[in-house]
Amino acid sequence: MNPALISEHFFNAKNVGNIADAEAVARAGSVICGATLRFSLSVDESQRITDARFKSAGCSYLIAASSFLTEQVKGKTTAEAAVLGQSPNKSVVEQFDGWPPDRDHCAALACEALVSAVKQYSDSVREEWMGDEALICTCFGVSERTIENEIKAGGLRTISDVTKACNAGAGCRSCYSLIEDILGTVNGES
Ligand code: FES
Repeated sequence: MNPALISEHFFNAKNVGNIADAEAVARAGSVICGATLRFSLSVDESQRITDARFKSAGCSYLIAASSFLTEQVKGKTTAEAAVLGQSPNKSVVEQFDGWPPDRDHCAALACEALVSAVKQYSDSVREEWMGDEALICTCFGVSERTIENEIKAGGLRTISDVTKACNAGAGCRSCYSLIEDILGTVNGES
């Protein structure tokens, strides 16, 4: 195990607590061990995370994973943070040399809370969006019209096709159901 990371995040956890007036707050719980976690994010107007904090009722591995993730996402865009959170093994487990396999679910829970917070942020931005074109993917700023055009031009059939074509859906995935609806409409399936 990486001793520097261990002492940094196990014995001296960073960013513990709540953010007052956070742009996003999300909770996650484990059915495996009963641990719970709350993640809060402050996000600026350019969708960059300016602060990230967590509160946890769980083991030291969950605390280390959460502490590490909060440090990693500060300064990143919400899309970049969501991409990190989609890969607990790469983003957390592999960073702590010797992380025990039976604690992978702790890393997964911390990542789940992070992605949930980004989803919540994306949903709220989409709901408040006042632009001319409907915003579908908040993470990558992709409009409904762009997605429709990509589907028509490329004969796209799946969300993964759309993501490859224009990045929509490559972050928190809160736009998946909307992309699915557009695919159905453009392809005459709904
Ligand atoms: S809104 Fe996050 S991936 Fe589309």
